[in-house]
Order: sequence, then structure tokens, then C-alpha cells
Amino acid sequence: MHIQPVKQLKGTLKVPGDKSISHRSIMFGALAKGTTTVEGFLTGEDCLSTIACFRQMGIHIEQVQDKVTIQGKGLYGLTKPNSILDVGNSGTTMRLMSGILSGQSFEVNITGDASIRKRPMDRIIRPLTSMNANISSLSGNGLAPLSIKPSLLKPIDYISPVASAQVKSSILLANLYTGSTSTVKEPTLSRNHSEIMLNHFGAHVEINGSLVTSHPIKELFANHVVVPSDISSAAFFMVAGLICPNSDLILKDVGINPTRDGIIHVLKEMNGSIEVIDKRVVNGEPIADLHIKSSKLKGTIVEGDIIPTLIDEIPVIAVAAAYAEGTTIIKDAGELKVKETNRIDTMVSELKKMNIHIEATADGMIIVGGNRIQGAHVQSYDDHRVAMSLAIAALGANGHTRIENSGCIAISYPTFESDLSSLIHI
Ligand code: S3P
Repeated sequence: MHIQPVKQLKGTLKVPGDKSISHRSIMFGALAKGTTTVEGFLTGEDCLSTIACFRQMGIHIEQVQDKVTIQGKGLYGLTKPNSILDVGNSGTTMRLMSGILSGQSFEVNITGDASIRKRPMDRIIRPLTSMNANISSLSGNGLAPLSIKPSLLKPIDYISPVASAQVKSSILLANLYTGSTSTVKEPTLSRNHSEIMLNHFGAHVEINGSLVTSHPIKELFANHVVVPSDISSAAFFMVAGLICPNSDLILKDVGINPTRDGIIHVLKEMNGSIEVIDKRVVNGEPIADLHIKSSKLKGTIVEGDIIPTLIDEIPVIAVAAAYAEGTTIIKDAGELKVKETNRIDTMVSELKKMNIHIEATADGMIIVGGNRIQGAHVQSYDDHRVAMSLAIAALGANGHTRIENSGCIAISYPTFESDLSSLIHI
């Protein structure tokens, strides 16, 4: 991808559907009785991997652009796939599906791409094993490929060492097969889309702060799902609108679930002009339009309980920090090291190439803003959010930027480049 600096960004944009919610709509639709319909589905490669896996397990799924119809067969309707399930680059597919597969009466193996095969799976293997699941890492090192064999699951009261919606959801899904009550306590609350959507499908999941309780149910029931626009994709345009001069953007129908909206708080704290307009609730998920205007940003400290609510947005927050006056410190974000890439290392190495003052710390990064940012030849390391963050950094740089391996953007935002072009006024 080649990016030239721009003079201003103007217009209205509806970014594609939320990735986390799109995955869940397929999984829960497959496990529900009856026909589930989805609108606003994200057609990114990760969510298409989820569709492919459930098709392999005998679920009829029709997908035409962002509209999906799933013929759910109930909790016990999946059938043994003919070959290994491949989640591609998608951690959500691997970890949530492992919870579901632990409760099936057939044996299955799951794998994914080179990045997924380096990401920790012991964080789900451990609690699922405590639930009596027969799940193991095929090479015995806590990494995928995983093998899951049939077993009789039992409930768990799990105190999670990490605020991870993928871990929490994996346990909630496995609990559907225990006929009993399980609880998950997190150090701080992670995104709660599973809890909200499971209840929308007739489950009984209670949320008390960072404690979630899953009560026994007999069936899930098909429903209609409207997927909000993904705040993690909107984040790129929030930062772009703030750092490019004379900009004025409206981002439509963005999911602003409080477990996901940390970036709005941080950018406002940095003096960003972001107005949240017309708040409403769809399928239990809060959404709003966001009005973004160019702003003179200042540095800030991002730490503590807010981190899980903006974990995927930290790469682009680092870009905002580079365009801000003063120093920004990001702490308590060690989880960044186990994302699609080690996002502390990849962002620090590539932003440095753009003449940005940025240093890695043990659990985050320190960015000193205000330097003249230089266009450069940079690398995505096949990490979609790194690629898009670098594209945003390039918009206000001096000179041209070339981003290698930008094809990975299709994992979460296939229309990123054309959406960006539609707002550019050179
Ligand atoms: C996700 C949870 C988060 C997030 C990922 C999607 C989900 O991961 O980073 O992009 O859909 O549950 P963790 O559960 O590892 O924090």
C-alpha cells in the first residue's frame, strides 16, 4: 500500500461490522435451534474462517455480502468434519470454538496460520481441562494445532489470571454442555459480547462486575442479529480525523459497548474533539454516531482497568500519541505481546522508521510526540492492525510511505483502502 500525506479528511463513513460480534453470530446461530439471520456481518477473512469451520461441521450457512443466514441445528447438531479445522489467522475462532468442541461427541483437530500457531493456547487448555475436556496441544507445547476428543464436561468456578474475552467465552460455551452452573472471574472485565448475545439467544448468563455466571439451559433459540460497526475499525478514522488538518468526519452506527469504548475516553483525554451522537441500543449492544474534528492533541497516560477496553486500539493510539504534544505512556498492556504479532515490538520498530520517538517498555511503550514525522518504507509483519495504524501515521507525514504486506488488512477490514480514499481531500 502506498500512502501520500493528505490535506484534510471529510465525509460520512459506516465502517464494516464488528469482528467479535460477527464471529459470535455464526457460532451461536449454529448452536441455536432454527434459522438465524445476521445483517451487518463483517466479511473479513477471520469471520469467513468461522463460517468455513461451521460449514465443515454440517451447518448450512448462506452468506451474501453482509447478510448471513444460518440453519442452526441445536447444541448437539454439529457433525464430525472430514478434515482438520483451519481457523486461519483468527484467535477468536480457535479459542471460542475449542469451548464448543470440548462438548461434542466427535474427535477433531484444529489448526491455523503461522501466527496462530505461535499464540498461547494453554490459557484455554488449562480451564477446559479442569472442566474435564480432553483437549491437548498436538506438539505438547501449549500451541496449536489442538486435538479435542469427546468427554463428559463438568462445571467450573474459574478465576482467570488474564482479562480475556476469548478465555471467558470459551468457558461459557463449554458450560452449555455441563447442564450446570459455571462462573468466570476476571481481573478486570473484558468485552462482554458473548454474554449479551448468548442471552439474546435464550441463554441465562448473569454479569456482576467482572464475575460472570452461566446458568444451565436446554437449548439456544435462533434470532436476528444486527451487527454494529466495529469500534476497532472506526478507531483508525477517529485518529485520522483528529491528526489531519481541517478534518470533519461522521462515523455511523459504531458499537460503543463500555467494554470496548476505551479509545474514545483516551482520545478525549488527549484533547480530541469526538462527539458521541444519537446513542441507542441494538440487540443489547449500545451504538452511536461519532463526530470527529481535527484537534491539537496532547500526551496522556493509558494504564490500568481501561486497557482491556482498548487493547486492539493501542497501535493506533500510539500513532495519535506521535502527533500529540508531549509524552504518552502506555502501561499494563503486556497482552499486546501475544496478539497477531508482538504489537509492542512491531509498532515500535516501524514507527521509529517514520522518525517517531517511541520506546518499548516491559508492558507497553513511551511515545514522545511533536517530532516531524517522515514517510518511510515500513512492514506490517502480516498484522492487519499494524498495517492500518501505519497507514494512518502516514497521512500526516512528510513524504510518501510504502507499507509492505498490506494484504493482511483483509483479515478485519477488506474495504479499508477504498473507505480511506473516499474521505481524502488532497
Ligand atoms: C476478542 C478478544 C480480544 C481481542 C480480539 C477479539 C474476542 O482478545 O484482542 O481481537 O472477540 O473475544 P483476548 O480475549 O485475547 O483479549
